Amino acid sequence: MSDISLEDIASLAKRRGFIYQGSEIYGGLAGTWDYGPLGTALKRNITNAWWKFFVDSRDDMYGIETAILMNPKVWVASGHVAGFTDPLIEDVKTKKRYRLDHLLEDAGVDIKGMGLEQMVAALKEKGMKSPDGNDLANPASFNLLFETQIGAVEGEGSTVYLRGETAQGMFVNFKNIVDTFYPDIPFGIAQAGKAFRNEISPRDFIFRTREFEIMEFEYFIDPSNWENEFEKWRQLMHDWCASLGLPAEKIHELEVPEEDRAHYSKRTIDFEFDFPFGKKELYGLAYRTDFDLTNHQTASGKSMEYRPKDGSAPFVPHVIEPTFGVERTLMAVLCSAYTVDELNGEQRIFLKLPKELAPIKACVSPLLKNKPELVQKAREVYDMLKKELGAVMWDDNGNIGKRYRRQDEIGTPACIVIDFQTLEDGTVTVRDRDTAEQKRVSIAELAAAI
Ligand code: GAP
Repeated sequence: MSDISLEDIASLAKRRGFIYQGSEIYGGLAGTWDYGPLGTALKRNITNAWWKFFVDSRDDMYGIETAILMNPKVWVASGHVAGFTDPLIEDVKTKKRYRLDHLLEDAGVDIKGMGLEQMVAALKEKGMKSPDGNDLANPASFNLLFETQIGAVEGEGSTVYLRGETAQGMFVNFKNIVDTFYPDIPFGIAQAGKAFRNEISPRDFIFRTREFEIMEFEYFIDPSNWENEFEKWRQLMHDWCASLGLPAEKIHELEVPEEDRAHYSKRTIDFEFDFPFGKKELYGLAYRTDFDLTNHQTASGKSMEYRPKDGSAPFVPHVIEPTFGVERTLMAVLCSAYTVDELNGEQRIFLKLPKELAPIKACVSPLLKNKPELVQKAREVYDMLKKELGAVMWDDNGNIGKRYRRQDEIGTPACIVIDFQTLEDGTVTVRDRDTAEQKRVSIAELAAAI
């Protein structure tokens, strides 16, 4: 995996219909990407697997779906209007804008723990210019929330924000869940959905975009137990990574220093992954304390206290928040699955995806497409599997070798070929993606076998 380039991943994603540039025919729109049929299926499989892992398999998790547009008071109370910023710096000549921390990192400066002032000092000390060789203006803090107008009248009262994180939808529904489901503490509220950030410099393919999906949950706890809960979730996050086939040695924990933590966090661990362009944040685990619930309680005037069922004193719960970017997961999954080996003296590329994530579970082909009896039998097998497995593909283009190569590149675990022997004994060949080995399986046992 170490010598895979970002170019390898991006080119396979485009070539095979996983990911396209957003608004491509108009020259694109920076920081946006469109997902083709296979990318959509892979993304959905990841989200479904996450839901199964963290929501459906537990009895202390409540899954919800909240609005992207929220009352703007939410974002004031949450601190995002004042503090959800990145350091922006501008090339005085071209007016191109950059993230100061990215420029410093690209110049080899370790920016961990640096505040804005220290970054400016490092910039001056190095006498740095913009990537185009021009002087840089003084940096400023740039708010990442996208603003838009609601209703027919433009003006101050109509400004709303596209949500910068899905978390706030869960905090503002805390009372609703408590009042309608009476959960015991600890319990969690989970959600997966779109988030929007006006990133200064979107980059590295789908790694840093302006529109992306987050899967996360707010786990409400008694504060006296926060360290314990934090450790439990830390381990479960590693278990989740393993379930995706991400190699443990590619995941690194980073204890985020206080100066670099989000405004709401008392402790954060970043889960970093060895992407082809370096070790970068994949997920985060934060101890958000009672920051959000208390701020919403103050700003809305509604009590956010939890009343324990044993009659003990009510309190505002604290929160542990594990957060997972869908696109970064997809990218880590693709990087981990991308495999190059040699088959019959030729190089082959294949995606060694876990079966649960593979966009297509099986491909069905007649050995020859000009033999009606083979095509008819193959269609019967295809229809049968499609009913049972859903994501099954029909492919009769080119020779069998080419079909296998195509399916290998999109990670299809099994290729089924209907040949003349099928007509005699009701068996088909099933080729395994990883080993390229073939075995004969009777049609009746096919669905179970793959
Ligand atoms: N509620 C906490 C929260 O939103 P975050 O670390 O700002 O935390 C959550 O974002 C996750 O979303 C990150 O761990 C990362 O996986 C993903 N993410 C953040 N910004 C992103 C971007 N611009 N493009 C793609 N994914 C992003």
